[in-house]
Amino acid sequence: MQKDFLSVRDLSVYEFGKMLDKAAEVKKRPDKFRKALKGKILAMIFQKPSLRTRMTFEAGMLRLGGEAIYLAPADIQMGSREGAADIGRNLERWIDGIMIRTFGHRIAVDLAANTGVPVINALTDLSHPCQAMADFLTLREHKGALSALKLAYVGDGNNVCHSLMLAAARGGTKMAVATPPGYEPNPEVAAWAREDGRDTGFELVLTNSPEEAVSGADAVYTDVWASMGQEAEKEARALVFAPYQVNAKLFARAKKDALFMHCLPAHRGEEVTAEVIDSPNSVVYDEAENRLHAQNAILIALMGRTNVHD
Ligand code: CP
Ligand code: NVA
Repeated sequence: MQKDFLSVRDLSVYEFGKMLDKAAEVKKRPDKFRKALKGKILAMIFQKPSLRTRMTFEAGMLRLGGEAIYLAPADIQMGSREGAADIGRNLERWIDGIMIRTFGHRIAVDLAANTGVPVINALTDLSHPCQAMADFLTLREHKGALSALKLAYVGDGNNVCHSLMLAAARGGTKMAVATPPGYEPNPEVAAWAREDGRDTGFELVLTNSPEEAVSGADAVYTDVWASMGQEAEKEARALVFAPYQVNAKLFARAKKDALFMHCLPAHRGEEVTAEVIDSPNSVVYDEAENRLHAQNAILIALMGRTNVHD
């Protein structure tokens, strides 16, 4: 394992599978891991709001026998009061790991490069790797072998979409991404996914047609149309993305038993209708639960090297 978890790319195909196995084990046998991070402290830097990420990292550290300290945007004023590198050089003197949610991905990379303790990316504008780990754990629980599945992503080619592509590449999951023209995923990330998934059975289709993407899918995933930091574009985006709403008509093109997935928070009536997200096919709260288990596996792998017994 590398020191940090900044991207799904930090895991090889093998490590990706092992990490999901570990997450499943932590979920099934929590008592075995009650002291896995005893005495360890995680600093949590947040420059954007959060429900799931803060709760699951904080509860996760407590459940593993460690502790977490929340640093709100106004506390450290990263970037204006002090830069990421100096913050990292201070934090490493006091604590054992850092979790960061920020804007530019470069900030997380700078922090990781300038501190000796592990750094975990809890969402940047480029990626959301912890979310993708939880989502693929959820997919595997509900549908079995990842290499037999087709995942459709409909909406903005954003941070969540990027991390799902990199996870699909490792799982050998076929993926179809439908975005409006101009909102495609970052071509470099798509190229990485294709490169990483060349021996796993991964296939990637990029299209502007939601119908094409969803057709025959085992799971249909969407995310908000305007991410954190894009609030000023919200109204303009609502017009562009309207044809990409996941509603019952679109969802009916997927397999009959297809899953509906969303990282949350969701906006009913925008990217997804209430009918779909509140249907029996929806696994959005399983995804939210699995944030805890997937991240606990990551925390143990990065911070628990000295006291975890496999
Ligand atoms: N899915 C997710 O990361 O949720 P929060 O923004 O509430 O942490
Ligand atoms: N794409 C969303 C995900 C929120 C969990 C955002 O960045 O705001």
